[in-house]
Amino acid sequence: MTTYVIQFTYVAAAALFILSLKWLGHPTTARRGVRVGELGMALAIVGTLLHTEIVSYQWILVGFVLGSAIGLPLAVFMPMTHVPQRTALSHAFGALAAALVGTSEYYLRSGELSTFTMAVLSVEVILGFLTFTGSLMAFGKLQDLVPSRPIVYPGQNAVNLSLLAAAVGCAVYLVRNPGSSALFPVVAGLSLLFGVLLLIPIGGADMPTVIALLNSYAGLSAAAMGFLLDNNLLIVAGALDGSSGFILSVIMCRAMNRSFTNVLFGGFGQVRVAAGAVEQRSARSATAEDAAAILEAASSVIIIPGYGMAVAQAQHKVRELYDALTRRGVDVKFAIHPVAGRMPGHMNVLLAEADIPYDRLVEMEEINPEFPRADVSLVIGANDVTNPAARHDKASPIYGMPILDVDKARTVMVIKRSMSPGFAGIDNELYYMEKTMMLFGDAKHFVGELVKEMTGARLGA
Ligand code: TAP
Repeated sequence: MTTYVIQFTYVAAAALFILSLKWLGHPTTARRGVRVGELGMALAIVGTLLHTEIVSYQWILVGFVLGSAIGLPLAVFMPMTHVPQRTALSHAFGALAAALVGTSEYYLRSGELSTFTMAVLSVEVILGFLTFTGSLMAFGKLQDLVPSRPIVYPGQNAVNLSLLAAAVGCAVYLVRNPGSSALFPVVAGLSLLFGVLLLIPIGGADMPTVIALLNSYAGLSAAAMGFLLDNNLLIVAGALDGSSGFILSVIMCRAMNRSFTNVLFGGFGQVRVAAGAVEQRSARSATAEDAAAILEAASSVIIIPGYGMAVAQAQHKVRELYDALTRRGVDVKFAIHPVAGRMPGHMNVLLAEADIPYDRLVEMEEINPEFPRADVSLVIGANDVTNPAARHDKASPIYGMPILDVDKARTVMVIKRSMSPGFAGIDNELYYMEKTMMLFGDAKHFVGELVKEMTGARLGA
């Protein structure tokens, strides 16, 4: 009877995980996706606890209390802009858990491990340990605990690949000779080292893509653990995690028009400053008063949020601006680029936090045809995702990256603090166009000034 209940909870949990992933794919259903995912996880835990082979409920309780004591403050106090680091930390711990389960199973069951079991155990341990140190490095880089710039040296890729080949070679030997236990710590040690070396040449700003990839490795490691422990739910959940992490990293690479190899071995973001050595061009700066006057006269405005809006935490001021404009009958939409900001869905999350209606958030493919009809493109802390060079300048590092056609609106306004480049480290020709007004200042402060101008003008009108 218990077996049936367990199997039922596992099937129900797997179905809920799949629904959760589906619903997480859209802002309107994302909250439901989170709740359903939590319910699935609760069912999975209940099913697991019903197992007859549970050795000690006391130790599980200790783990539960300890994990909650760490996890709860992490979730509550970690600011939204630190979500990539938080995700890196949870992958690190998840992968370590999988690797340690593999290690204990190896020593507990040595002598009775079939070739298949030993093979999945090896996959679990290699992926688990390399994801552990790789994710810790990603966390360190994003948190500035280790230098976030890419560290490269000649022959680096050859060194890394040889190290991985050595770990896999030792694992293959172990699969054929499971009793050679002296080799097991070598496999673990090489994997741990590989995780560190894999991350060293990758710049801090590329970490979100790499974290999605590490997510995928952690999922595959968990799926291997499912085979090892004969647990169907772990196989399903691990495979879902592995494939969704992989798909996410592919989407991110595509939206940046970069290949996996370029992200993993490219040392991107390190030498671009010199590439901007251009002839002197001048940009036209304007005041909040000038900008507010044009915005008030507009009938359609497209707002383009970017990383700067996130850093400045300007989303609530942006909401006030949205309200001020819509009260005047201006049609306001938000153009969402898939890699604006530094993590997937970054802009959607921030704008949702400020209660901006979801139907005002329009994806790149849909909004691009609307720019030529818009009166104003208002860029708030976005840079690379608006750079027209991506369309025509073959020498540009972002050539081919799909961008928002911001330059096609009648007037372009750009709020940023200076002429500094964005993530790709290159100049943006948008700033030198005749129709562009540069609005220099911190995004939160400047948008606040715009709101003051507009509401002040409205009251005075
Ligand atoms: P960026 O190109 O990085 O530009 C952000 C701009 O914000 C900067 O030029 C900066 O200019 C401005 N800024 C910073 N702090 C500000 C503040 N307090 N107030 C106002 N402006 C501020 O951002 P983007 O257009 O969102 O593009 C994202 C980039 O990140 C792309 O190149 C993308 O490929 C990359 N990337 C994204 C992801 C994901 S998943 N989203 C992952 C990896 C890489 P000032 O310093 O002059 O203010």
